[in-house]
Amino acid sequence: MLIRPESPQDHKAIRDLTRDAFAPMSFSDGSEPDIIDQLRKAGDLTLSLVAEQDEIIGHVAFSPAKIRKAKGDWYGLGPISVRADMQRQGIGTKLVQTGLDMLRKKGAAGCVLTGNPDVYRPMGFTNEHALTYSGLNPKYILFIALNGTAPKGEINFAPALEEDHP
Ligand SMILES: CC(C)(COP(=O)(O)OP(=O)(O)OC[C@H]1O[C@@H](n2cnc3c(N)ncnc32)[C@H](O)[C@@H]1OP(=O)(O)O)[C@@H](O)C(=O)NCCC(=O)NCCS
Repeated sequence: MLIRPESPQDHKAIRDLTRDAFAPMSFSDGSEPDIIDQLRKAGDLTLSLVAEQDEIIGHVAFSPAKIRKAKGDWYGLGPISVRADMQRQGIGTKLVQTGLDMLRKKGAAGCVLTGNPDVYRPMGFTNEHALTYSGLNPKYILFIALNGTAPKGEINFAPALEEDHP
């Protein structure tokens, strides 16, 4: 399996993969493919990585995030998708680790996300923090420091992601 940055020919495959992966998720309103397109259009798609094995079987997006009381450059992770029949084989972890390595090389302070702690804690994220996001239960807010100290305060994701969480 190859992990590589997206190319323009991948946009449709990324949309289809994301739509299908999120379709069974009760928390999803089906907006994730549009979010990726909006991040790209706004110049906020800092990293868009695909996992390829004959075809595209996984994708992850990273975009800039602002945190009120944090030093350095922080990034938000998501959306992330792995094809349903390929989940729980470590592909999501490989996508995330590759993205975090690339962010670390750019000098990023760290990465934040909202999601299922059972998925992201094994990848090295923690939900023990002083972060807030739009009244969300803090256990669903996770971060990993790459080159800095633990951040504090309210998170503002890139506008395309904020629209998903009014
Ligand atoms: C979330 C997702 C990207 C994870 O990709 P993946 O390739 O299955 O992840 P991995 O195999 O690397 O697993 C990472 C960890 O998450 C856990 N995990 C994966 N899916 C899980 C699930 N549905 N429920 C609970 N834990 C889960 C794994 O057990 C693993 O932990 P472990 O190392 O202790 O076993 C994938 O399940 C997916 O596409 N889901 C649908 C879309 C979605 O929900 N995206 C995330 C929104 S927050």
